Amino acid sequence: MKKIGIIGVGYVGLVSGAGISDFGHKVVCADIDGKKIESLKKGQIPIYEPGLKELVDRNVKSNRLLFSSEIDKTIKDSDIIFIAVGTPEGSSGEVDLSHVFDVAVEIAKNLDKYKIVCTKSTVPVGTGKKIKEIINSNKLHAVDFDYVSNPEFLREGSAVKDFLWPDRVVIGCESDVAFKSMIEVYQPLFRNKKPIIQTDISTAEMVKYASNAFLALKISYINEVANLSEVLGCDIKVVADLIGQDGRISPKFLHPGPGYGGSCFPKDTKALVKLAKKANLHIKTITAAIEANVYQKERMFFKLESLLKGNVKGKTIAILGLSFKPNTSDIRESSSIDIISNILKAGGTVKAFDPIANRSMKKIFPNIKYYSNWQKAVNNSDCVVIMTEWNEFRSLDLIDLKKRLKTPLLLDTRNIYDPQKLLELGFSFDTVGRKKNINY
Ligand code: UGA
Repeated sequence: MKKIGIIGVGYVGLVSGAGISDFGHKVVCADIDGKKIESLKKGQIPIYEPGLKELVDRNVKSNRLLFSSEIDKTIKDSDIIFIAVGTPEGSSGEVDLSHVFDVAVEIAKNLDKYKIVCTKSTVPVGTGKKIKEIINSNKLHAVDFDYVSNPEFLREGSAVKDFLWPDRVVIGCESDVAFKSMIEVYQPLFRNKKPIIQTDISTAEMVKYASNAFLALKISYINEVANLSEVLGCDIKVVADLIGQDGRISPKFLHPGPGYGGSCFPKDTKALVKLAKKANLHIKTITAAIEANVYQKERMFFKLESLLKGNVKGKTIAILGLSFKPNTSDIRESSSIDIISNILKAGGTVKAFDPIANRSMKKIFPNIKYYSNWQKAVNNSDCVVIMTEWNEFRSLDLIDLKKRLKTPLLLDTRNIYDPQKLLELGFSFDTVGRKKNINY
């Protein structure tokens, strides 16, 4: 059993801390935000993440998972310290690493014996080297430490599952002692034959960015093929399904939609482009993926406009789904923000509903109306737009939906509904890369 300290109790820190304690280690999750720590001690989870509360409760009960606002004590008491603080986007698209570097100084000041310092936060290639320099130049005792880069591949909404059943665990480190310790941390996965791979530090840092950028690229690619399919009269659902059956391509992340959002893809793609620029390279594919995504978000509004025959002014539009993806309350970079903002600019009215994210969106758009169920949002609206593929939007009673609308106009940006069925029911509708009918 290892003694682990996790610094930063955001989404990554909390899921990782709870997951590692579930592997049988003693974990202290520490944060300078005393309020957050106090509510965690009371069993309140600050984020909506399926399965997280159960995981936290189970390990708190077994005394393996504790919360603390004493960063210094947590560092002193740990064999391995994970840095899991936020790395938000800085002013010019570069990553703001100030929180990571602050933690590095704090670790240096409290380094009283050999420890492993491991970064989980997403940081650009070369950050590990800087963290090592900061610790070496600020440490008060002549003690050694090893540095590890251990990027996370957790998706919001399925982070617990992703942590407990990962495809791979990447350990970037230059010391066999540190690698052995990290294997012990992830021992249960090792027994489950999940690959735990050692690389050098900068390679591990690159794996994280390259993975996210590739997935973003894949989404932008399928979105562009969907847009072309619309014009040429092909069905993207069939196209994506059949190209995905090629093992070299895989069916995952081939779902066209209103453009990717979230706290990771938009930020990480921009950071990779910046990183390349600094190295005097131009990553054309990723730059194109970013541009295609900006356009995709705008395109959803153009679709709405054409469903409404160009007259958004004075119309009431029901928006179903506000989070950037299902099973999360996170609305960061959500395509819903773009469409709502465009509707309001054009003089339309928005009635919004999300099973979880109404409150988050209220902070951005305090003046639109939020409803407690889809039926209320849709009542008397001129058009309904499905923005997030929450399960409850997958099985709407379409006959009831049509009756509630003033005019039967539907924009399905997640391709949930069969165009043929919508046609038969008399909807005027549009999709992303499938059939449309805008004859109302
Ligand atoms: C992403 C990565 O998938 C994780 O592996 C990574 O650890 C995480 O970023 C991170 O860096 O922390 P996340 O942003 O939570 O995870 O969610 P995704 O499931 O990747 O979805 C991102 C966006 O892409 C969403 O807006 C989603 O709707 C969109 N998407 C996804 C599509 O439009 N089509 C698809 O086929 C898949």
